[in-house]
Amino acid sequence: MKEEISLSLNGLDNSNIAYITSILEKIGHISVDFDASPIVGLLTHFSPEVRVLAIKNLAKIKNDIYIQKFIEIYENDTSSIVRREAVSAIGRQRNKKNIPFFIRVLSDNDPKIACQAIRALLIFKGERLIDETLKLLINHENEMIKAVISKEYYAQKTDKNTKPHSFVPEQLKDVIVLGDVKDVLKTIKEESFHLTFTSPPYYNARDYSTYESYEAYLSFLETVFKEVYRTTKEGRFLIVNTSPVIVPRISRTHSSKRYPIPFDLHTILIKQGWEFIDDIVWEKPEYSVKNRIGGFQQHRKPLAYKPNSVTEYLMVYRKKTDKLLDWNIHQYDNDTIKSSKVSDGFFTTNVWKICPKSDKVHSAIFPIELCQKVIEYYSYKGDLIFDPFAGSGTLGRTAKSMDRKFFLTEKEPKYFEYMKSFLDVESLLEENHTKFMTLDEFKAKQGE
Ligand SMILES: C[S@@+](CC[C@H](N)C(=O)[O-])C[C@H]1O[C@@H](n2cnc3c(N)ncnc32)[C@H](O)[C@@H]1O
Repeated sequence: MKEEISLSLNGLDNSNIAYITSILEKIGHISVDFDASPIVGLLTHFSPEVRVLAIKNLAKIKNDIYIQKFIEIYENDTSSIVRREAVSAIGRQRNKKNIPFFIRVLSDNDPKIACQAIRALLIFKGERLIDETLKLLINHENEMIKAVISKEYYAQKTDKNTKPHSFVPEQLKDVIVLGDVKDVLKTIKEESFHLTFTSPPYYNARDYSTYESYEAYLSFLETVFKEVYRTTKEGRFLIVNTSPVIVPRISRTHSSKRYPIPFDLHTILIKQGWEFIDDIVWEKPEYSVKNRIGGFQQHRKPLAYKPNSVTEYLMVYRKKTDKLLDWNIHQYDNDTIKSSKVSDGFFTTNVWKICPKSDKVHSAIFPIELCQKVIEYYSYKGDLIFDPFAGSGTLGRTAKSMDRKFFLTEKEPKYFEYMKSFLDVESLLEENHTKFMTLDEFKAKQGE
């Protein structure tokens, strides 16, 4: 087989990149006595893809005869992927002799190449020179490099005395508090919630909230989500449903104003330490949204184009951690992992087509299907799920029906009473009644 490869690489048509790469990709293990000269010839091939594969194959030969060649490639090649592969190939030799080379590569302008050198040096982690050199990179300007160094050298050890990750405090289980979420959150211990899914007030575009200014509104959200961060468990998720809103014009001589809430909120959340994970687009049928295109359909004048807004965002964030998602998953027992498995028919793209829901009491309620999907994809059975802006309590009811616990806050008495009205009916049949409390009642329970 190896002879065949050698023969097929000899005298090949250099311009046939697909053919050459297909051969290079098929080469398995290579022994030291293999005549690799046809592959060496490809190190100067005009295609970077071919050069990368040639380096990959030569690196399989476990001796250092090609190290000098790889160093030359690192120093002279014009392609960043080829230079990176050369550094990776030297790293694979796991030879201490190459440490000075990797230390030099740490100052490469391309962060991905510097990361390869870090990876190679970490093989010798624990040696003084290596640790001292790598620790200094915590001040590197590139965020990926900083994150790697932080995880390797500065990760905080988890306190052995803290409660298990799946733990839910009894006094937070299936509770709805009437009060301003800012006041309620002050009374909650850190690392309490597994998931927060919420739709904050839409600035001044709806009837239930008013703010002095857009700045005051963003500052309010900043305060709330900072507290949500503190009270979220390590590595767990926050999903915020928002969309740009329009505050209508005051008269025909003024224009209406559009506020890009998701984008402004995004920068605030990132500064707080939330890690951006995904942007999910909730798409509604066109008939269900306000018609803005009507005027344009008549006049067709450029600049005055106003498309119907059929989308909202579900922005997905994760509380910062050095741990991988697997760590979060392994905090649960096998039964919980098995019974929480997402069933067939899940959305495979980030565009979720779901009909909105209208309601006679609340003007902006979540459709149940939206809550179901979020709960199913981002929590395990038994988890504590939080909605700081509960409204009619759709998230709580859905969480309960999916064997999760919920904690909700709502500041308007009329919506608090509304939640009581249908949860009361449901809970007549249940052992674990939902607990409705004022802020003072809740505070008193916390002290017990
Ligand atoms: C967009 S609605 C949420 C509707 C909810 N998703 C549902 O399914 O019914 C926002 C809710 O936040 C409430 N709210 C506004 N400011 C609040 C605050 N400071 N604390 C608690 N709730 C607040 C409003 O009264 C409103 O009911």
